[in-house]
Amino acid sequence: MTIKKLGIVGFGQMGSGIAQVAAAAGYPVVATDEKDEFLKKGLSRIEGLLNKAIEKGKATEEDKKKTLGNITTTTDLGAFADCDLVIEAIVENLDAKIKIFETIDRVCKPTTIFASNTSSLSITDMAVVTSRRSQFVGMHFFNPVPVMKLVEVVRTIMTDDQSFNDAVAFAESVGKTVVRAKDTCGFVVNLLLIPFLIDAIRWYENGLATKEDIDNGMKLGCAHPMGPLELTDFIGLDTVLYIGEIMFEEFREPRYAPPPLLKRMVKAGYLGRKSGRGFYDYKK
Ligand code: CAA
Repeated sequence: MTIKKLGIVGFGQMGSGIAQVAAAAGYPVVATDEKDEFLKKGLSRIEGLLNKAIEKGKATEEDKKKTLGNITTTTDLGAFADCDLVIEAIVENLDAKIKIFETIDRVCKPTTIFASNTSSLSITDMAVVTSRRSQFVGMHFFNPVPVMKLVEVVRTIMTDDQSFNDAVAFAESVGKTVVRAKDTCGFVVNLLLIPFLIDAIRWYENGLATKEDIDNGMKLGCAHPMGPLELTDFIGLDTVLYIGEIMFEEFREPRYAPPPLLKRMVKAGYLGRKSGRGFYDYKK
């Protein structure tokens, strides 16, 4: 089956980013969220990015009209009935995700493929609550979605080849490069990235060097676009803590154990860019 119409559950940073790249590639997209205000915010986020691209001469008014024209928003999950692929991009909460998949399983046509954009939860745990276990994959996009070139397409031991290949083809058709992964906690990228971020926080906590020197070390020494502490601020300290906890729970290895400083900072509300303060101060 070829994917012709896309559904997105959750129109936040990730969901609206996925909707934007799919709509720009010509797919009709139906996006849902719990409240109209979240849908409005997502649409204005996309419009703002398109306006910036126009200012820079990287897009035209016509491109903007086409992209926005391909996106329909609604709070009604029933709108997914005729979608060929539905990607869930809500909060990282397994119970909330399961509730969504149970609902859309009743609504969607039998051939619809389901995907979760989770970064760390088990795809298998979500697939088993549906009547389409073999048509269930992980599709893990990266933030900011319009910029980052990668999608991890994840298969469980139940995923059939057709659904997996359709998901890969869809990701490639919106301009992304695919990494194929098994349903292992963290897939490929977070399995390597999270211990690296945790290690950097641990060494910072141990007084190895200043935060600027740790970040510059990796930026200038290894050509990373952001240093590990800057990147943790960008991802969100609460998210890094959450993923680290899930990975530690799964593997029981110290390398995944979130360091005390990370826990204290999250407790204090220092969540990174989104809260105005993390390892760095963003209030200025
Ligand atoms: N949304 C869309 N586009 C954005 C953007 C955003 N939030 N932020 C920046 N951009 C675009 C800019 O418009 C600009 O586009 P053009 O080149 O077309 O002009 C381009 O990105 C570069 O932006 P800037 O010049 O403003 O800034 P920069 O060069 O410092 O790049 C960055 C910003 C792209 C975020 C870069 O710092 C970067 O790549 N950082 C690392 C990001 C990263 O590692 N993301 C993955 C996080 S891990 C994850 O998502 C998975 C998980 O499960 C935790």
